[in-house]
This record gives sequence, C-alpha cells and structure tokens, in this order.
Amino acid sequence: MKIISNPHELNNYVKTLDKTIGFVPTMGALHEGHISLIKEARKNNEFVVVSIFVNPTQFSKDEDLDKYPRKDEADKKICELSGVDVLFFPNAEDIYGDDEVSLLAPNVRGYVLEGHTRPTHFNGVLTVVNKLLNIVKPTRAYFGKKDAQQLNLITLMVKQLFMNVEIVPIDTKRDSDGLALSSRNVYLSKEQRKEALKIPGSLNLASNLIAKKVLDTKEIQEKMLDYLSPLEVFYVEILDREFNKVENVEIGNTIILVEVKVGETRLLDNIWL
Ligand code: PAJ
Repeated sequence: MKIISNPHELNNYVKTLDKTIGFVPTMGALHEGHISLIKEARKNNEFVVVSIFVNPTQFSKDEDLDKYPRKDEADKKICELSGVDVLFFPNAEDIYGDDEVSLLAPNVRGYVLEGHTRPTHFNGVLTVVNKLLNIVKPTRAYFGKKDAQQLNLITLMVKQLFMNVEIVPIDTKRDSDGLALSSRNVYLSKEQRKEALKIPGSLNLASNLIAKKVLDTKEIQEKMLDYLSPLEVFYVEILDREFNKVENVEIGNTIILVEVKVGETRLLDNIWL
C-alpha cells in the first residue's frame, strides 16, 4: 500500500492508471462500518483509494475537532489488511489555502435535520468531498447510509455539478447490541452507551409498528419520542427518499431518521424502509 499526502502527487498518480477506481473518503478512527465500504470498493473496482482527513471546515468552532479520535497507525494497518492500494493522508494545509472557494449546501435540504443545529456543517462536507473527488477522480465513491443526509446531499452535488462519478450507498453496520458503529462511540461511558441503545430501540419500535400496519407518520413519530424520553432529541423525522415530509409511510420510499445527544455526543441513526 502506498501512502500519499500531497494532492498533486495523488492526482498525477491516478492519471497514469488505466483502471476502475473505488474511493472511500473517511475521517479515520476506522471501524467495521468503514471497512464494509472498503470491502465493497475492493470487490467492484480494480484499484482502491481510501482517504483519512479530519476535515476542519465541517466542524463549527464549538465542536469536537481537536478531540476527534485519531488512530493513525491502527488505521494504516486496517487499510493495508483490507487491500487498499493508496491511502491518501493529507494535512489541512495540503487541502486548504488562505482565501478559499467553497461550496454552499442547498438552501432547503442543507439546513434541515443535522443542518438545522449545525448550519455550516454540510458546506464543509460538500467542499471537502468535491475536492477529494477532484483529486482522486474515482469511478465509484462509497458512502454510508448511516449519514443519510450527507449521502443525499453528495448525490445531489454530483448530479447538479455534472460530476462523473457513481455514488454507491452502503448499509449501516451495527455492534452486536444494535448501536450503529461510529467513531464518536468512544466518547460514551458505559452508562451513556446503555442510554444510547434507545436509539436503535426507537427505530425497532417504528419497524414493529409499521409491520402492524401503523403507517401514520405523526403517530409513529410521537411513539418514538415517548420511547426516547428523557434523552435530548434533536429530531425524529419520517421522510421520503428525497427528504420530503410525508403523512404516511410508503414501503420502499421512506427513511426514519433520529439524532440524539447523549452526554456531549451527537449520535445519528436511521432505517430505510
Ligand atoms: P466518517 O464519519 O469517517 O465516515 C466515513 C464514511 O463511513 C461515511 O460515508 C459514513 O457514512 C460511513 N460510515 C460511518 N459509520 C458507518 C456504519 N456504522 N456503517 C456503514 N457506514 C458507516 O462521513 C465522514 O467521515 C465525513 O463527513 C466525510 C464524508 C469523510 C467528509 O469529510
């Protein structure tokens, strides 16, 4: 595995390849969720690039940029063992200059849900993903359904900017207790982790209601909020795949999204129905 930190070097390197390239952008502290994206990229492409970059522009001033978990050596090993060809490992100065062009998230979809409480977050995500896709020029790029709004906005960016890459969504990996894997789970104490299990619990509750033909989204949302109490809930939303609110669940076209704060940690989860 080759490790490259200079964007121009990587850009020149991939230009010499006459191969399909699968790309997995990450912020490191890799877990089985990230590994499932890498495996899928490995399966369907001749060449695999993973990036590890804790992108400062998607964190607001009062967020956890400095304490975001970093596990560089373990991450390199995981990439090597997962058959990654190139690990792109830039510094902030390799990616950003002083006076930057940046992308703005769309006015509606960028500022609801996670974007409502983190209004600059998706500008930063789109800006960095745009840069990374331009550097790597992949055939396919892999993103987790766990970050459903991020996936939706990246798909929209690729379409609206006529970018020549296929965005591949990957299912959420969970721990054996049901909690969705996240680099941020390391912040949770034992007690908080127990509380956090209410998140997948609330999504199970919704699935069970829907299996019993309860399709009214208001009713499902209220029952989920009751179940999640007394956790600090940022939102429970039931939307169609285009992120519009809906009155009734339509199997095949619905996502139920939850974001909750446990201690100081924001945790996201969702199910696609
Ligand atoms: P990060 O949180 O490191 O996640 C990298 C990718 O892994 C994302 O596409 C995310 O949705 C996916 N992922 C995270 N947890 C997962 C799980 N439990 N199962 C399956 N996939 C999972 O998301 C980011 O980094 C950044 O915003 C990034 C896109 C790299 C831009 O900086």
